[in-house]
Amino acid sequence: MALQSNQNEKDKAKARIVKLRQLIDEYRHEYHVNDRSIMSEAAADSLKHELTELEERYPDLVTMDSPTQRVAGTPLPQFSSVAHRWPMLSLNDVFDASELESWQQRVEKLLPGEKTTYFIDLKMDGLACSLVYEYGLLVRAVTRGDGKNGEDVTQNARTINSVPLRLREDASRHLLQGYTEVRGEIVMYKADFEQLNRVRAVEGQALFANPRNLAAGTMRQLDATLVAARPLQFHAYDLLREDMDDVPTSAASYEYLRELGFNVNTQAQPASNIAALLEFAEQWQEKRLDLPFHTDGLVIKVNDREQFDRLGVVGKAPRGAVAYKYPAEQATTVVKDIVISIGRTGAATPVAVFDPVVVAGTTVQHASLHNADEIARKDVRIGDTVIIYKAGDIIPQVERVLPELRPNGTKAFDFSAALARQHPDLEFERPSGEVVTRVKGATGPLLLKRALRHFASKGALDIDGLGEKNAIALVDAGLIQDLADVYTLDKEKLLELERFAEISAEKLVQAVNRAKRPALHRFIYALGIRHVGAQTAIDLANHFGSLERLSQATLDDLSAVDGVGQVVAESIVGWFGDADNLSMLEKFKQLNVEPVQALTAGGSLEGKTFVITGSLGEMSREEAAERIRALGGKVTASVSAQTSYLVAGEKPGSSKVKQAEDHGTEQIDEQGLLELLKD
Ligand code: IVH
Repeated sequence: MALQSNQNEKDKAKARIVKLRQLIDEYRHEYHVNDRSIMSEAAADSLKHELTELEERYPDLVTMDSPTQRVAGTPLPQFSSVAHRWPMLSLNDVFDASELESWQQRVEKLLPGEKTTYFIDLKMDGLACSLVYEYGLLVRAVTRGDGKNGEDVTQNARTINSVPLRLREDASRHLLQGYTEVRGEIVMYKADFEQLNRVRAVEGQALFANPRNLAAGTMRQLDATLVAARPLQFHAYDLLREDMDDVPTSAASYEYLRELGFNVNTQAQPASNIAALLEFAEQWQEKRLDLPFHTDGLVIKVNDREQFDRLGVVGKAPRGAVAYKYPAEQATTVVKDIVISIGRTGAATPVAVFDPVVVAGTTVQHASLHNADEIARKDVRIGDTVIIYKAGDIIPQVERVLPELRPNGTKAFDFSAALARQHPDLEFERPSGEVVTRVKGATGPLLLKRALRHFASKGALDIDGLGEKNAIALVDAGLIQDLADVYTLDKEKLLELERFAEISAEKLVQAVNRAKRPALHRFIYALGIRHVGAQTAIDLANHFGSLERLSQATLDDLSAVDGVGQVVAESIVGWFGDADNLSMLEKFKQLNVEPVQALTAGGSLEGKTFVITGSLGEMSREEAAERIRALGGKVTASVSAQTSYLVAGEKPGSSKVKQAEDHGTEQIDEQGLLELLKD
């Protein structure tokens, strides 16, 4: 009897499990493929939880396609190599309308008298993956590899929510039989990529270069739990079976792929002639930038699969398909200067400074030239006209020099001479076998400790409790890897260090918080840009008004600032051209550090000059001065006929009060100052 009732219970559980799986899978499909939500995430999680419990009770009811099995298994020692049933081909590229036309004419010549139509899709910038289904069940996922053999990345692919573990039952039945291969592109959406990098910036980790590399790097992880934590997407573009009679065209295969439960690009469509192809190409050239994923062109195939097969393969590429590549976003400009920036690890990075030029929608005025060898290899000279492009649509790079446009009498760039001229106070070395030239004897941590000390010092951000010893301890403990990390310190982290106790940790955190809206000139000074002292920082803040504008200043803009000569201008442009510094600035932003313009023109106190004496209750004299400057006022040390107000706190200096009386200067107390500051 007991046995009987156990069996009953198990049957009930089994029926429930089947229904739960269906519903959870429906949720996943609607959410990740159709972009619709049939229930909240919390409700779906709750169903998953129930399913997990039932499966734990009846482990023999667990199946490979259960939603609980997306992340399973232990890290692999290595990927195994798998032969592709059909080779994974690559595509020949065409770069413009006339090349596309030649391809199309060649195709039509090889199919004399036949009607040919085309199928066109966006070319996604990710990595190709082949998914193998047997009797509807996902059994293997393989990368392209060399086209003949790829790596078995099944564990990783299973974690991708838009990869169905089982083909959808309501699809055409014949497709669920036997062996079915679905090929497509694994991509990371731009928004997800940016979000991941934002988090990394906050955590002080190095930023990922671009979504494609990140997607590819992620799929090469041996531990599938790491893959599961990264949002990847699969977009299908090909369906392969022994018997393709029921799938006569690419257009039909996209229909079937959708039915089987895959994401396919909704933009893909048939095109009957070259004019339609070109229209599509034109239409997407700009619009593609708004798509959620990166595209670098289009894929155009002969729509009829039988014709496609008949056209055959040359080398590794089919005759019946072609990639139409959009031009990488490029522009030409003239190199005005090459400045060498000393990074926070002491590395000397040459940066090319250009006449500003718009590339892919943003103004570019410098690009890293990486190192002395790169400059020599490309033979970039001051005065050269160069082609620049945005790699992965983001970071500007010099592609090459146009030697035809080189002015007479230029010389190859002399890296050592430039170093000596721009940084006469430093000594450099280039360890043998390395491409990087560094400040002699200065290790990264040593420079960072110095930079940190300067950052926190009185004249800079004045962060109490961040003196020499603490700076050393924080860097040594790895809590600070760049200046922005100062703002990530919290009590918990500090208490891990011997140097900190409850109160000292609390105090430092408070001091750091107070430095979250520093005066712009102090912040500029605190960055430790070489040759930018406190006075220059004030002049720069005054002139540019924001870090944003300073970061975009050209050599000419900078030279227009009083007291800024060539060496200073070069140093500033170089600093803002250094990718490390830019990612640090981005990190400051993410951490809500907002320098405020302390010396704005046009503020409510413009033209007013203050002298402060005695001690104030609510703020320090320094703070009061900052706030006056923030509204355009001036603060000087002694009273003169030009002084507008004498701010007298507790125990004011008697000589100042006397002078104010002599000049008939208005005297106000702290309250009066606060009133003025209100405006
Ligand atoms: S169809 C015969 N369609 O481009 C090859 N490929 O060189 C048929 N790719 O690495 C490929 N988006 O992974 C096709 N919509 C798309 C694609 C696409 C990206 C990739 C593919 C391969 C490369 C082809």
